[in-house]
Amino acid sequence: MSEPLILGIESSCDETGVGLVRGDQLLANQVASSMEEHIRFGGVVPEIASRAHLEAMRPTLERALVEAEVDLKDIDAIAVTAGPGLMGALVVGLSAAKALAWALDKPLYGVNHLIGHVSVDVLEHGPLPQPAMALLVSGGHTNILKVNDLAGDVQEIGTTIDDAAGEAYDKVARLLGLEYPGGPVIDRLAKQGDPKAISFPRGLTARHDLDKHRFDFSFSGLKTAVARWVELRRRDKQSFDVADVAASFQEAVADVLTAKAVDACQVHGIDHLLLGGGVAANSRLRELLAKRCAQAGINLRRPRPALCTDNGAMIAAVGAALVKAGVAPSSLEIGADSGMIASTVSL
Ligand code: KG4
Ligand code: ZN
Repeated sequence: MSEPLILGIESSCDETGVGLVRGDQLLANQVASSMEEHIRFGGVVPEIASRAHLEAMRPTLERALVEAEVDLKDIDAIAVTAGPGLMGALVVGLSAAKALAWALDKPLYGVNHLIGHVSVDVLEHGPLPQPAMALLVSGGHTNILKVNDLAGDVQEIGTTIDDAAGEAYDKVARLLGLEYPGGPVIDRLAKQGDPKAISFPRGLTARHDLDKHRFDFSFSGLKTAVARWVELRRRDKQSFDVADVAASFQEAVADVLTAKAVDACQVHGIDHLLLGGGVAANSRLRELLAKRCAQAGINLRRPRPALCTDNGAMIAAVGAALVKAGVAPSSLEIGADSGMIASTVSL
């Protein structure tokens, strides 16, 4: 008998994602983004995102069914992002998923968006050896996670004490006068710059930080350092190359993320590392992590960039793991948890 067909619905931020998977097999991945509508505000406007989800949900679901060549009645279980994310945005996906679960009389799984970023790689590279370490870098989160079992045993090893890595990209892009979201723009621009041009600080890497914050991150000091550097040049009417600033900033981010992730693997004796989240699409981070993992004898798994940014397939992947492990479904009365912590896989 073939494995169950899982529908995944994602609506935690500005992407309406609908995915369909069967076991580790990706059948459909449709995403509608409201990004364009947020650009002129320089960041995601929650109410615009919620309204866009409401409008995009049904057409995105229909496109996914067509792509997978399946019918609504073929679906065996429904997984939906229950958190973390924007409350008004989460509620739209949850309502759609609950309506479908009730109407189709199929189980509902309210799942963690962050675990989605970690789980999506199985759709590309097959089952994840466990335990594995995961470096999760997104717009709202930066974590090192020890994944003992994707279906329920995930332990936080480190986190950011201030800004997330993606947030730092977005803020630095803004102060350089670049468009939102900053990650892809800085990634492109940095290719024309010199990463060694400016020596920006590497947060929480000093000797005295290692006791308490060995695997934690801090990007707020880096952002302030970039702001100050640019401010001084502008004040003195000194010209500078924005590409050099972008490349040097990016190098500082990639250096800290990769050094700490490799260190966490070595300290915990784990030789599989998984990269996930929107910032995992970053070309320099992917390259540097591959180099450092190879040097340390760590097997690195990197989902393709299109699966790194928010999507519904990653949520369906969590659903598939939960169904396979026999985890009890969620109640149809679950709420959204905008601050859901990484160690909670499902509600
Ligand atoms: O995971 P994601 O799609 O949404 C959240 O869950 O937050 O991550 C979005 C973040 C944004 O901050 C965006 O600037 C960043 O991922 N991002 C990138 C790249 N593509 C997206 N950051 C660096 N380089 C990229 N190529
Ligand atoms: Zn995300």
